[in-house]
Amino acid sequence: MENGMRTKYIEFTSEDSPEFIEAAMALREGRLVAFPTETVYGLGANALDSNAVRAIYDAKGRPADNPLIVHIADLEMLKPLVTEIKPDALKLISAYWPGPLTIILKKSGIVPEITTGGLDTVAVRMPDNFIALELIKKAGVPVAAPSANRSGKPSPTMAKHVLEDLDGRISYIIDGGPCKVGVESTVVDMTVDPAIILRPGGITPEMIERVIGRVELDKSILGKKAVDRPRAPGMKYRHYAPRAEVYVVSGSSEDIAAWLRSAVSEDEKSGKKSVILAAKEHIQEYGLEHAVSYGSINNASEIASNIFRLFRECDRMGTEKIYVEAIPREGIGLAVMNRIEKAAGGRIIHAGK
Ligand code: TXA
Ligand code: MG
Repeated sequence: MENGMRTKYIEFTSEDSPEFIEAAMALREGRLVAFPTETVYGLGANALDSNAVRAIYDAKGRPADNPLIVHIADLEMLKPLVTEIKPDALKLISAYWPGPLTIILKKSGIVPEITTGGLDTVAVRMPDNFIALELIKKAGVPVAAPSANRSGKPSPTMAKHVLEDLDGRISYIIDGGPCKVGVESTVVDMTVDPAIILRPGGITPEMIERVIGRVELDKSILGKKAVDRPRAPGMKYRHYAPRAEVYVVSGSSEDIAAWLRSAVSEDEKSGKKSVILAAKEHIQEYGLEHAVSYGSINNASEIASNIFRLFRECDRMGTEKIYVEAIPREGIGLAVMNRIEKAAGGRIIHAGK
């Protein structure tokens, strides 16, 4: 315990339980409460209370120029936070809220600078999780919440991951079981025309285009190199990363398999502890002693829900190198590849070239 605070762990039973109500009141009063959402666990603070929000940056060790997402439970909560809601933004909201979609709008005067990292815009989302929505309603304030991990670490998809990172640094953790989606929300900037996706997530570009027509993808998503000044300040840091070195391996299945077999045999010779995270259909290529399944190659949602947990499990086993088989950038696969590439920090291998 670094700062001697006692973290109260609450197993969610009912929104009317005394301890849940206690956590909601504490949140309103300026304390930090970690809670489940459909994407990953969030570390919540009263978004309108500068001191509470400052405590989030301290607890996570997060750079102060990295703005937070404000979580709301109903549309009434949105209006006071922003200067206007244009028709396209409203269409997206009707289509995908509650859900894994964060919308950036011009902020109003009531949102403190620290919540938005000094920007004149604010990111807002309505999570699709009963516990999160009840917590926000009971607290009665909009809730600023980044992912509830120490800055740079993989996002937590289970309450125990939050404990690993933040025990003794926050007031409450509400355990609501594992998160459904497993990667963070899509962030879309609606202050520009056409709208730009700053971070891919559970709501895919196709799903957005279906509702508002053309949408662009920020350069930092397509390019493999870090850009100096990405529009979502959070995307410039190495991120989502386990302690191990992460390598993304792409190419034809045959080339990937050949490259990986030789890499792990080299590692074995030199005594490096390495693991391959691969599609379940490919595990037999490497053998169970070298590879762990991240899910089916035909089911990117399954891979999304497993990837951060697997990174953490590799750390627990003392793994030094993690090789991840690349997946197609389709649907939520775009978000999965984005997170894996961030974790790899540029270690990208094109097998067979
Ligand atoms: O699914 C999620 O979005 C989770 C759960 C807890 O809701 N939250 C989350 O928050 O991932 P965080 O803080 O880890 O990531 C927020 C991202 C960062 O990349 C940040 O830079 C960007 O959103 N962001 C926030 N406000 C912004 C703004 N006004 N303009 C541009 N980017 C913004
Ligand atoms: Mg995060």
